[in-house]
Amino acid sequence: MKAFKPDHLVPLGPTDVLVSPLGIGTWAWGDRLYWGFGTDYGEHDVAEAFEVCVQRGLTTFDTAEVYGLGRSERILGRLIRATGGQFAIATKFFPYPWRLSAGSLRRALLGSLRRLGLDRVDLYQIHWPLPPIRIERWMAALARVQHEGLTRAVGVSNFNLAQTRRAFEALAKLGVPLASNQIEYSLLKRQHEHEGLLDLCRELNISVIAYSPLGQGLLTGKYTAGHAPRGIRRFRISDEKMRRLAGLLTLMGEIGESHGGKSPAQVALNWVMCKGAIPIPGVKNARQAAENAGALGWRLEDAQVQALDEASLSVQD
Ligand SMILES: NC(=O)c1ccc[n+]([C@@H]2O[C@H](COP(=O)([O-])OP(=O)(O)OC[C@H]3O[C@@H](n4cnc5c(N)ncnc54)[C@H](OP(=O)(O)O)[C@@H]3O)[C@@H](O)[C@H]2O)c1
Repeated sequence: MKAFKPDHLVPLGPTDVLVSPLGIGTWAWGDRLYWGFGTDYGEHDVAEAFEVCVQRGLTTFDTAEVYGLGRSERILGRLIRATGGQFAIATKFFPYPWRLSAGSLRRALLGSLRRLGLDRVDLYQIHWPLPPIRIERWMAALARVQHEGLTRAVGVSNFNLAQTRRAFEALAKLGVPLASNQIEYSLLKRQHEHEGLLDLCRELNISVIAYSPLGQGLLTGKYTAGHAPRGIRRFRISDEKMRRLAGLLTLMGEIGESHGGKSPAQVALNWVMCKGAIPIPGVKNARQAAENAGALGWRLEDAQVQALDEASLSVQD
């Protein structure tokens, strides 16, 4: 069984866009409301995190126009320009209800490109399948910017089984492959496995990008029932579920030990990769970036994946 290595780039779906097997999420880079950017961490910390990622071969970054109201894209753009080199940059279009035309997607993309300082993005994703615009219309808008060369690949996010199939078929008719679906997927959130979405993506060669792969910090083991995350995040999990999580974290620790002292966070990320998905953990500082990069270079045994599957059943919604 091959270990996951940062220099083993993988293609996004059937496209020629190559990404690292583990990408980095940048929602927290500039977001004050949810993540508290500017309080206990700031631009200097995320710049150091970025540097560690690049040193460790992690050159795939995920952002969105809505993250920090554009601040995440601006910070990422500054860091890319200051560093140079090859990156794979993914961003997202938010289908606000007042955005009613294909032109609005193109205008939003131009705004993202301006903030990122790029001529084109490697992956442009529809953030959520929100009404009132039909999926087929947004796919036509994506195909248009792809044909124009403003994007190298297009994808969706938070699309369920039926929506993913519709998006795939609508794009296929326009000669554009659906490269990816970005969904919440972790040991804490496995409903997509049971609903068949992962199987569908495998069948149609759509890459699955796993967001919140650390359960927004809960799978690192640093939060407990008596020490919950601060801010809005504390409402994501009940005390009861937090107590049940302790058993899973103990197993993750034991399994990590058997691989030469890997941490629960590294086990959580490796588990996602073993399932065939690309995790994009968020990082706020160099220490977190280095730890998450340590999810690469080794691989869980099949029996360990199975044991984690079983132990994580008790913490599903
Ligand atoms: N498409 C969508 O709708 C969607 C939704 C959500 C996220 N995303 C994307 O997915 C990315 C990742 O998801 P996420 O940020 O929600 O959750 P996550 O990756 O599960 O958790 C990230 C948070 O966990 C903590 N952390 C990370 N590494 C750590 C480590 N090694 N040790 C201890 N703590 C660590 C940090 O917060 P603390 O230090 O504060 O605990 C960090 O901000 C986002 O940045 C974004 O790009 C997409």
